[in-house]
Amino acid sequence: MPKKTQPDYRKELEKSAKQMILIHRVDTLIRIILRAMMRNLKIKHAGLLLYDKDKNEYVAKVSRGKAGGKIPAGFAKVGKNNALIRYFADAQLRVFGSDYLSFERVSAFLNSKKGKKDKKVKAFLEDVKFQLSLYNAKFCIPGFFRDKLICIFFLGQKSDRRKFTAEELGFLSVLSSDAVMAIQNAWFYQDLNKQLQLNRNLFLQTVMALATAIEAKDKYTSGHTERVSRYSLSLAEEIRTMQKINRRDWVKLLRDLKIAASLHDIGKIGVKEAVLNKPGILTDAERKDIEKHTLVGFSILKSVDRFREPILGVKYHHERYDGKGYPEGLKGNKIPLIAQIISAADTYDAMTTDRPYRKALSKEKALEAIKENRGKQFSPLIVDVFVRAYKKGKFEIKDSF
Ligand SMILES: [Fe+2]
Repeated sequence: MPKKTQPDYRKELEKSAKQMILIHRVDTLIRIILRAMMRNLKIKHAGLLLYDKDKNEYVAKVSRGKAGGKIPAGFAKVGKNNALIRYFADAQLRVFGSDYLSFERVSAFLNSKKGKKDKKVKAFLEDVKFQLSLYNAKFCIPGFFRDKLICIFFLGQKSDRRKFTAEELGFLSVLSSDAVMAIQNAWFYQDLNKQLQLNRNLFLQTVMALATAIEAKDKYTSGHTERVSRYSLSLAEEIRTMQKINRRDWVKLLRDLKIAASLHDIGKIGVKEAVLNKPGILTDAERKDIEKHTLVGFSILKSVDRFREPILGVKYHHERYDGKGYPEGLKGNKIPLIAQIISAADTYDAMTTDRPYRKALSKEKALEAIKENRGKQFSPLIVDVFVRAYKKGKFEIKDSF
């Protein structure tokens, strides 16, 4: 008969550890760990109870293998007073030691003279045995982080029905402590991500508050910021259908564009209201005063690291493709794309809304004006995407999103 090949446990542990380090999703991690247990020890099924720190209870996360069946209703989540949890969580109750617990050992004890003697211990272990049977577990191994019980792995019958060897127990013990470290890391990573998301939301709310502050000052531009943001995002979407942009760059462009479009006129905070809202023709000095809003916006935002890209949209949204714009007279594609997009969206919105010095143009006339400026005020690409987006109805004039 050919000799059965034993897994190289050291290699298997290294393999699992390498995989675990890279994974930050707890459910995926658990799947990998259980698979490693089942494959190497030839167990019919495996699962675990995992601590849920938000709910302060243990949740039966996964039960793999045919023999595992379905976890009975009401037992998918268990509280800290569950006998199995108490057995491992309370050092004084671990009558068979803290490394593992086998169904066979509990049964044997309960049938022994000693087991029958102490009624209190007997009742507790009967309960433990019942819990093990619910999960069809022949063997349990706990996972601790310091003194805290993080999880309990429950393993079913081995295919050959043999007992675990010392080597296999060693493998299980190292794998479970590696698993606890990996789960802790995944939790830490998830917490960090949550915090990052909270910070991001807070940041965006601050941006929106700043944008509202601009509109409060300029009574003719009510809803302007929201519309420019909406039009800008539509133009960006259209650019993506025409140019290959990888997902990462795309997500970043959208994020930066949203901020830049919301704040493009933030510098108007530094322009006198009388000038901003002047109904007649502006003098040269007044026009220069308004034009300064690009540089004022730049100086307001330049110290914030997160504005490094959006700031280009704020500073250059009045540049022209032919170099006749301001503040620097940049030409062609020297004008950052983010600024080119905002410029077209801003101009279209300015044309289609009432201004202190003239009435709104129809959207058809505004489109014509944009087209006439192909290669002049705007780059050919921007005009082309504008026309395509316009035809898709992306420039319908609505007051808000
Ligand atoms: Fe502006």
